Amino acid sequence: MAEEELYIVYKGVYLVKLTHTPESLKYYEEFSFRPDDILIVTYPKSGTTWMQEIVPLILSQGDPVVVDTVPSWDRVPWLHTNRARHLNLDQRPSPRVFITHFQYNMMSTGFLKVQPRVRFAAWSHTDSLWKEQGVIYVMRNPRDVFTSYFHFSRMASFLVSPGTQTEFLNIFLDGKVIFGSWFDHVKGWLSATEQHIMYISYEEMILDLEASVTRMAQFLDTPLDSEMIRKITDRCVFKNMKKNKMSNYSLVPNTIMDQNVSEFLRKGIAGDWKDHLTVAEAEHFDAFYQKKMQDVKYNFFWD
Ligand code: A3P
Repeated sequence: MAEEELYIVYKGVYLVKLTHTPESLKYYEEFSFRPDDILIVTYPKSGTTWMQEIVPLILSQGDPVVVDTVPSWDRVPWLHTNRARHLNLDQRPSPRVFITHFQYNMMSTGFLKVQPRVRFAAWSHTDSLWKEQGVIYVMRNPRDVFTSYFHFSRMASFLVSPGTQTEFLNIFLDGKVIFGSWFDHVKGWLSATEQHIMYISYEEMILDLEASVTRMAQFLDTPLDSEMIRKITDRCVFKNMKKNKMSNYSLVPNTIMDQNVSEFLRKGIAGDWKDHLTVAEAEHFDAFYQKKMQDVKYNFFWD
């Protein structure tokens, strides 16, 4: 099916019609954030589901009950989808954790109007200081995002079929995919300097998950001993997390996500693009990347 049938446009960006409606977007726009809410932000295929496993485990200090019993999309919901409206989020205890694929300029005024000093300040039980919590932004090498997105577009019936890899490469680079351009997404969130954001990359998590979990726990002001960190890391490595039916999307019917075509937790590695992109495609990608990112000062893990 074509874009008009599967997508709606919100703030100039495609969203999936199946999960986004005028009512869900109104709910999102009017949503009241609490000072100690935690927001995880990712571009699609950058480690969203992984974060929906890690952060709840950090907050529960390694207790697996929530990740074993609640599907990832309910334990860390997307605020802008239909489902969020039915989860009684205002009754959830603090700190609540949400996830979004929205670009920075798509964030609601409810999110933006509360200034950082207040918005993500949470009273710490461990001392008498105001501790800031906030946003964790996860980035992934866009070449691997592209490869993952290509396979995801083949298996998800709510997405426009990707066509050939070369065709999809042009679509991806042009940002004509759901949640828009990877380049706009990353540049927008990197420029959100007034926010309290921890930046981390999928590649750092692959390289040293234990260190990444430790960093996140520190950012979230959740003290964890080394045994808890090891336990969380062990649960979240690809081969173990893949077995969790609350996180591997096996609860979703095949008519919506056909895991016989491509598994949702597909490869879980860094650098898979090297086995997929042709030399010409990789060169085209590089040239486009250099042009788009020339004004960005951030040291990306993959550069
Ligand atoms: P691949 O398709 O490259 O395997 P998202 O959740 O944002 O849609 O991202 C999905 C990507 O994250 C997939 O990448 C998936 O395999 C990978 N992923 C999910 N959980 C992971 C884990 N525990 N370890 C490594 N990669 C993981």
